Amino acid sequence: MRLKDKVAIVTGGANGIGRATVELFARAGAKLVVADRDTRAGKECVAQLEAGGSQALLVPADVSSDTDVATLVNQTTRRWGGLDILVNCAGVDISGSVVDTEPERWQRVLDVNLASAYRTCRFALPHLIERGGGSIVNIASLQGMYGWPRYAAYAASKAGLIGLTRQIAAEYADHNIRVNSISPGGIATQLRANSDQLEPRFAHDPGAPPPAAAPAPPPELPRLRRAGLPEDVAWAALFLASEEAAYITGHNLVVGGVLSVAL
Ligand SMILES: NC(=O)c1ccc[n+]([C@@H]2O[C@H](COP(=O)([O-])OP(=O)(O)OC[C@H]3O[C@@H](n4cnc5c(N)ncnc54)[C@H](O)[C@@H]3O)[C@@H](O)[C@H]2O)c1
Repeated sequence: MRLKDKVAIVTGGANGIGRATVELFARAGAKLVVADRDTRAGKECVAQLEAGGSQALLVPADVSSDTDVATLVNQTTRRWGGLDILVNCAGVDISGSVVDTEPERWQRVLDVNLASAYRTCRFALPHLIERGGGSIVNIASLQGMYGWPRYAAYAASKAGLIGLTRQIAAEYADHNIRVNSISPGGIATQLRANSDQLEPRFAHDPGAPPPAAAPAPPPELPRLRRAGLPEDVAWAALFLASEEAAYITGHNLVVGGVLSVAL
């Protein structure tokens, strides 16, 4: 078991990539904390894990709130006695060109997709240090690496997350804490629909082209040209979280099929 008895928080763990990560980490022996605003899906996820014999806890949390994130980390350490792994996966797909992005929209995307990782790391790092090391995996995006029309705030938030990853990796290497990001592209999830529901004020601009989260293309396409599966990202997260990646930090791993190299 690659994560036997490790304690892991997964933000955004109720759906999509986060949910696949939670399920895979549980199969690898970890004790899971699912942190999400979607409590209905979160409860269902935890019930399913418990029914399968895994240990899991749901902490309803908005990652843009300092209070919620402090509570999340406190409840985790109180319940499981420490923390080893943090996966920052919660995110929203809110579109708009620079001109169309009013300050509130910009701020909300940056708060949920970028400042959230600063916030969770700030509260979690002392606990990882106490354990003598740990692993942080930040779910960024191909859109943080390349330009994408009408995704100004989203692209900036994900580029910032890749930078923050390198920064924390450099700052905490002496504590044996590894920090890596994954940049997925084209993963079949309900990211846009979920974002519209969670953030109705900033609902999707219908003129914007499909983001990295595209609907599943026809199955006759070669595997590397189809939309990826949430599990494709979860396997990368498992590798980075595990001891197999013990000498890897500050890395940004692209999981995007052929989108990684060619459109
Ligand atoms: N799907 C893709 O193609 C793709 C590509 C690149 C990056 N990503 C990133 O992957 C991550 C997961 O997205 P997904 O595609 O699985 O979509 P998803 O909608 O299935 O998952 C996102 C999760 O985050 C939660 N969430 C949103 N805002 C939150 C908040 N403020 N506090 C707590 N939880 C919150 C949602 O409830 C949901 O469970 C996101 O960060 C997204 O930007 C996705």
